[in-house]
Amino acid sequence: MTEKILMCRPDYYGIKYEINPWMNVNIQADNNKAKIQWENLYSTLKDDLKVDVQLVEPKEDVPDMVFTANAAVMHGNKAIMSRFKYPERQKEEKYYAEWFQNNGYEVIWMPNTIAFEGAGDALYLGNTLFSGYVPRTDIQAHSWISNFLGIQVISLELINKSFYHIDTCFCPLEGGYLIYYPEAFDSYGNMVIERYVEPEKRIIVNKEEASYFTCNAVNVGKNVVTNLTTKRFTNLLKEKGFNHIQVDMSEFMKAGGASKCLTLKI
Ligand code: ARG
Repeated sequence: MTEKILMCRPDYYGIKYEINPWMNVNIQADNNKAKIQWENLYSTLKDDLKVDVQLVEPKEDVPDMVFTANAAVMHGNKAIMSRFKYPERQKEEKYYAEWFQNNGYEVIWMPNTIAFEGAGDALYLGNTLFSGYVPRTDIQAHSWISNFLGIQVISLELINKSFYHIDTCFCPLEGGYLIYYPEAFDSYGNMVIERYVEPEKRIIVNKEEASYFTCNAVNVGKNVVTNLTTKRFTNLLKEKGFNHIQVDMSEFMKAGGASKCLTLKI
């Protein structure tokens, strides 16, 4: 089955405000470099991995719209839309909703009194949705989704400010494998993860790798696409039967994102 992914060209991308510890308006992204890096990721997915990549039109007033992971969490044909925590990104909600509506998806809104940041904070491991909370998503979003979809949602508190979306420190892979950074979770969260994922399916990244956004990976079959990272990580993946593809994401890290943040599986 061909994977389908939504992306958004970085035409208006930039560090225009600071809403996470990686962002500093005095350290701007190099626009040309960002465009090249984005096109590299796009062609890796589309041409090399044969993913059906769909594009949502970028809009001028929303520099972070390039991070489509935050548009919604998907469940079949349903898009449960984000309710962004910060006003700077709330303007993206209607643009993404328009795209889903025009492309045959069912657009679902939770009350706007709940903060929820889509697949940036909600990832499926099997049929269970693992969802982060505190920095960007409220825990009420988890019970709302669980009730609405009738699925199990497991809540994991994100305790490290640098790993403010769950997709910065947790990445389920095909076959029940999991890449994650234990220090981004409290001891209870770690226990929950360990109970859920057997030891040989855990791919644990270290502090250095976590700081390169190594957990922010796009998984397509047996391929794993990340930012540039360590040889150790490539070997870990190899031992578990995965092929590692690295694409330089330096310009997007300045906004606190990397490869996975730039994609949404739809
Ligand atoms: N600057 C964006 C923000 O702070 C980055 C989003 C990264 N996306 C993600 N899925 N982790 O919201």
